Amino acid sequence: MTRYNVLIIDHDADFLAGMKKTISRLNHGATCMPTISEGLQAALHTPFDIVVMNSEPSDSRAIEVLRKIREIPSPPEVVVVSDSGDPDEAEAAIRNGAWDYAEKPKGNRGMALLLVRLFEYLARKGPARDQRQVLKKETYEEIVGSSPAIRTSLDLVAMAAESEANVLIGGETGTGKELFAWAIHNNSKRANQQFVVVDCAALPPTLVESTLFGYEKGAFTGADRPHKGLIKRADGGTLFLDEVGELPLPIQRSFLRVLQERSFRLVGSNKETRSEFRLIAATNRNLEQMVQRRQFRKDLLFRLKAFSMELPPLRDRIQDIREIAVHQMTKLCRSYNCAEKSFSLDFFETLSRYEWPGNVRELVNAIERAISAARNEPVIFPKHLPTYIRIDLARASAMEDEAARPALETFTGNNRDSWPRLAQAREAAVAHAERDYLKALIASTGKDIKKAIGISGLSRSRFYALLKKHRISVSDAEERG
Ligand SMILES: Nc1ncnc2c1ncn2[C@@H]1O[C@H](COP(=O)(O)OP(=O)(O)O)[C@@H](O)[C@H]1O
Ligand SMILES: [Mg+2]
Repeated sequence: MTRYNVLIIDHDADFLAGMKKTISRLNHGATCMPTISEGLQAALHTPFDIVVMNSEPSDSRAIEVLRKIREIPSPPEVVVVSDSGDPDEAEAAIRNGAWDYAEKPKGNRGMALLLVRLFEYLARKGPARDQRQVLKKETYEEIVGSSPAIRTSLDLVAMAAESEANVLIGGETGTGKELFAWAIHNNSKRANQQFVVVDCAALPPTLVESTLFGYEKGAFTGADRPHKGLIKRADGGTLFLDEVGELPLPIQRSFLRVLQERSFRLVGSNKETRSEFRLIAATNRNLEQMVQRRQFRKDLLFRLKAFSMELPPLRDRIQDIREIAVHQMTKLCRSYNCAEKSFSLDFFETLSRYEWPGNVRELVNAIERAISAARNEPVIFPKHLPTYIRIDLARASAMEDEAARPALETFTGNNRDSWPRLAQAREAAVAHAERDYLKALIASTGKDIKKAIGISGLSRSRFYALLKKHRISVSDAEERG
């Protein structure tokens, strides 16, 4: 049996002593550290298989340290335990590559059970501590980035590739859902068979059925030859249903049957045909919510998400921006047959300030645009970026400047010309007060937006409009209940 090395970070000395005893009894090695910073130092210098870290309420750096640990080559699996169990922290932990987030079990027994589960997982995973070592080289060449979030996604690709389960990939537009679907297929045992892409958003409603299921000769006027549908084409390979949320309800029903039986009827035929496809579906919509609104079948969703993964938006992993930009530049310059360019110092700083609503797709396009705007110049500057991005950034920074300025002090001085009209001063002061009020309110309600809206006396849409106006981020706030 493999002996694993565990690092435990906790401020409670009794807990550490108890854990050390339990872990030695299970024939694994334990190292204890009393603070998060000492724990990080230990993890950076010694290769551990597992890190159990207690996020201390007094120390908000747990997630940052988790991220640093997961950036180590062949990183250990990290379990974050917390005395309180904070849902926001739980989400941040999982997003940043934690194996699990748990409320600290009472007593050593609960903790020992958690570790046994991890030991079993590591044993199954085999000697390759890093799942990505099992992925093909093409996968890395296409999927660029080394943020913990991307690494976690690649680990999931490796796991999904090993299994035959249906996979559901979520994520905003441009986050790479199709690329990851392809990577799962290409690393699976079906790699030499077809990867059939069905873009559910682009299928005309009248043709969905015949496109998916195919038809017999004479099935309808104009069907002068039999037509093999996409489901049949994926026989032995992988069927990728992109934007599966757009699938019309009646088709969802027939498709559910295909999923259950892997057999179906061609349009205009009563013969059953089989297709042994593996299904991967992707969506940028919230399917759970669509189920609640009766726009998506619950039973179908349940089947689709046997294995599910969520791709992170680019703004949550800005450390990947540079790598993707350089990769794209090299690729484009090669294909244009021009000399590679370099980037000015402030170029990446500029890129990281932008929100990237279109994610990697938007970044790739922006780089392409910057390269062609730079023409023969060897260095790419922010001024080469698409105009709409530069306008957005300029507006944001102007707004920050304005907000940072105390409203009236700016207007004092002897120069008569610099004095604004009263209306302007009033408007600036009101804007300032609104912003301060909203920020303080959100903080004092513990980011509970519903509660904040109630207290403010504003309508929901007005409240959100003000958040937007003042660029107050709602991404880390949520509507509860
Ligand atoms: N991690 C990544 N590294 C490099 N290119 C990426 C990455 N993620 C996405 N892309 C590129 O971004 C574009 C959009 O990806 P795609 O898979 O079509 O996104 P989605 O299906 O989520 O909208 C494609 O050109 C893809 O190659
Ligand atoms: Mg897509």
